[in-house]
Order: sequence, then C-alpha cells, then structure tokens
Amino acid sequence: MHVRGASASLSSSVAVTLSLFSSLFARLLRLNQAPLAHANFTNMTTSSLLEEATFISKQFDVSKDQLIAISNEFIRLTDLGLKSDGMPMAMIPSFVTGVPNGTEKGTFLAVDLGGTNFRVCSIHLNGDGTFDLLQTKSVIPRSLMVGTSKELFSFLAKRVDEFIKTHLDEKFNEEGGHSDNEHIYKLGFTFSFPVNQTAINSGTLLRWTKGFDVADAVGKDVCRLLQDELDLLNLPVHVAALVNDTVGTLMSRSYSSPGEAATLVGVILGTGTNGAYAESLAAVDKLDQSVAALANKSIMVINTEWGSFDNDMKVLPTTSWDDAVDLDTPNPGYQMFEKRVSGMFLGEILRRILLELNEKGHLFSKASTPLTTAWSLDTSILSRVEADTTPDLVAVKSIVETDLGLPTTLVERQAIKVIVEGVGKRSALLAGAVVGGILVHTKACQSNPVVDIGVDGSVFEFYPGYEDLMREALKDVIGENEKKVRIVSQYLSVASSASLPADYQSRIVGRDLLKQILRNSCIGTYVELWDGLHMGFTDFLF
Ligand code: GLC
Repeated sequence: MHVRGASASLSSSVAVTLSLFSSLFARLLRLNQAPLAHANFTNMTTSSLLEEATFISKQFDVSKDQLIAISNEFIRLTDLGLKSDGMPMAMIPSFVTGVPNGTEKGTFLAVDLGGTNFRVCSIHLNGDGTFDLLQTKSVIPRSLMVGTSKELFSFLAKRVDEFIKTHLDEKFNEEGGHSDNEHIYKLGFTFSFPVNQTAINSGTLLRWTKGFDVADAVGKDVCRLLQDELDLLNLPVHVAALVNDTVGTLMSRSYSSPGEAATLVGVILGTGTNGAYAESLAAVDKLDQSVAALANKSIMVINTEWGSFDNDMKVLPTTSWDDAVDLDTPNPGYQMFEKRVSGMFLGEILRRILLELNEKGHLFSKASTPLTTAWSLDTSILSRVEADTTPDLVAVKSIVETDLGLPTTLVERQAIKVIVEGVGKRSALLAGAVVGGILVHTKACQSNPVVDIGVDGSVFEFYPGYEDLMREALKDVIGENEKKVRIVSQYLSVASSASLPADYQSRIVGRDLLKQILRNSCIGTYVELWDGLHMGFTDFLF
C-alpha cells in the first residue's frame, strides 16, 4: 500500500522518541530544586560500593508470591471497578464499540494531549488507499499545566487555528474559510488522562495525572472545553471523538492483525502507564445496559486507569526512594502503580538513589546540578545504562559524563548498572503482573490459541529485555499459557508499516485513525471479530 509521506511539509521535527517526552516533561517540572549537595567523598572500597549497590537493588526485587498477590488484587479491583463508579480503579467504559468500514475520504484532524506536548495532525484521505499526513508539536508551557482550564484549552485551540492556517490554508480558502458549515473538520481528541466517558465525544475529567494540576477542569467535559475555545476562534472544527491513548493502542493493534487473533489489551508504558482491554458488555454492571446506543453490542473497550492500581499500597512494593518521589508530586498517594513503573518516575527514583550515595560519600568525587536537581534525569538513562554490556562500561561512562556531568570509576559504573537493573526490572515485572491479571480475569488464554497485546511507549520500546522481564511475571501469574501471549510493539509497526520517513519515531497523533485507514482492506474480517458493531469511530469518520 502506497503512502505519500509528508516529511517535507512537517513543520517541526518529529524525530523525537517517547523517552525524550519524559525528559522534557521532567525538566519542565523541576518540582524541587535541591541545593548542591556537599559531597563528602570517602574512598569506599570496590567491594563495599558494589555490596551497597546490590543491597539497594535488592530492595526493588519482587518475588513470585508478590507478583501473584499483585495480580489477584488487580483482579479484585477490576471486578469492583466494573460494578460501580468511584472505585479505586476507575475501569472507564470508552464507548468504542465499532470500527470504520474502510471507504473514508476527506481531511480529518486529530489532536493529542498526553504529557509534555500537544500535537495537532491532519490526515487527508485520498480515497484510493493513499493519504497525506501532517503533524505539528508544541511543548505545553509549565505554567499552563498548573493554571486554569481557560488558559490551557485556549492554548490548544490556538495551536489548532495555527495548524489549519499554516497547513490546510489552500483547502481552507477553497472551502470558504471559517463560516462554511459544509466543510467542518471532524476532530479526534486523544486525551490521555482519566475521563469519565459518557459518549464517544464527551467525558468529564476525573483527575489529572503526570504532573498536570488544572483544578477547575476537574469535573468538566474536556470535549466541551476544547470545543468552546475552538468556537471562540470561529474555527470550522467539530470535536467528534474522545479517546484515551490505551484505547487507541488497542484499536490500532487490532487493525494490524485482523483475523489472526483477537487483540485483548492495549498498553502504554511511556511517560505514564495504563491499559485498556476488550470486556464483555454484560460484565460492565455499572453501565446502564438499556442505553439505546448499546443495544445489540457485546463488547466494550474499558480503560482501566491502572496507574491508580493499589493506591492503598496493600500489595505494591515500596522503598524510601519511591516514597520520596511520591511526596514530590502534585498528587501524593495517587497513581502509586504508575509511580513505580512509568518513564516519568524511573529517572527520578534513580537520581534520588545516586544522590543519597553521593551525600554519604560513597559515589562520585563531587556533586553536580543534574544530580541534585529534582526531576532532571531523563528516564532514558536507565535504558542506555542497561544496554551497555562492555566490560569497562564505556557507554555508562559517557552517559554519566553527559547527563550528570560527572567522571566515574569502573566500580562506580558497575554500581550504577546494578541499581538500574533493579529499578528497571521491578517496572517490567509489575507491568507483566497486571497484564497477567487481565488475562486471568478475561479467561482469554482458555478461549484463544493466541492472545494479542499491543504496547506503545518509550519504556517498553527502549529498555533492553523489558518484554522478557514482563514475560517472567506473566509466567508466574498464568503459567504455561504465557506462550500463547503475543506482545507487539505498536511503535515499530506504526513507523514501518506507514513507510514514513526513517526518522519518524514519535507517536503519531491519530495513529488509530491512521491504522484504520491502512487496514481498510482487512476491515471486514475485523468487523466480524468485533461482532459488527457500528458506532464510535464510524460516526467519527463520516
Ligand atoms: C496516565 C493517565 C492515563 C494514560 C496514561 C498513559 O496514567 O491517567 O489516562 O492512559 O497516563 O499515557
């Protein structure tokens, strides 16, 4: 299938990995500017530094019994969340119950607010299987992440306005500008925060995560907030669909394997972490089954919001560094699972450990600003350290020099690697345990020869051996059935299947839409799989 890439017209570089998102986000936050530590360096012996590093790393161990307990608690909270609102795990119905039929034509807009950046994208469907794609990205100013909803959504609307004027200008003028209702652009809104969704294009914000704290937006319909600001600018745009990034990942994976295996779970392991899965509608007790729109439907995609799994800390492991990181966020006591697993937090956990060792005089001959500045370490440091298998850890040497501005001895580098392995492994095991929980809850392995899971996000993409570690936990939770599980990166499949420019490595706004288009030819099989459901994205596209 031919795709006309739009690299020449991209207005900003898109060669940005999700790990960079984490980094930018962390840098923006700088919640706590600690003063430079006084390094009281004493020459620790080689063996004692390594022993101390091993001792620290072991605090991140999670045993098989713990993983099983985590999975069981996850299943319990899943059941509770499906029964009623306001439960510890939100289990949000997505109202995605259908798929397009593959005859799409026209220009569609998609925007994505998920963390540090806001993306605007247009896809022009040529009607012959080819399409043109444009994307811009803007960093959300830190002041807007903690300001008023008016300021934030007006900023977003202005970016859409700029995008239309810059990139769709010709078409825009041809179509008669703002006032021509015949040519209203339908816009899909990927909003990666917990929203109590009431329809495909409306939902109220439950709470913010990932460092956002725009208090007056909580409880409001985020589609309405965006639509009002777009209307104030007199833009010909209708917010037609609202999706969480996990739901998008599940849908896009579904399109890439139609007929082969039902995709059960969509997972994000990036700046934040979350999962969505296909649930039997009958099991979603809290939904009024009589809602006309749901008649004859059998499946509903559920956004679990597993970032908030076990906020009560009944089963999740913890360390003093986790506790300190939690206290330094705008939402202490919330997103406790996410704070142990996702990219926004792993770099900060590592920084706190290294700083403590430095302050004790056990690591580095001096301190540096990145070491003492909260949220300043890019989570990608863990992936890069883990990837270095050279005997002298030469890559670690240059990483620490570059990222922390510090020289190292070999034993210091070995100690850092041991600690990184502990923090990274715990993240992957915890992620595997909750995926296992979904598989047990849905009995997916009993009824399917292959269970397909789509994953997106920098942590999964770049942390060496992350999938293998997730599989270790899966084996502990579901035993031999682990072999039936196929875990597929959506990141790679988007980048390669769309024949996009080689450096196109960022998550694509509206990738779900893109995938739907790419898979036009196979949609029939897919629709059968999904029980011929016809609302949701079908409405969005036409
Ligand atoms: C946070 C958000 C969730 C999102 C996830 C991944 O956990 O609450 O909605 O899916 O990050 O971006």
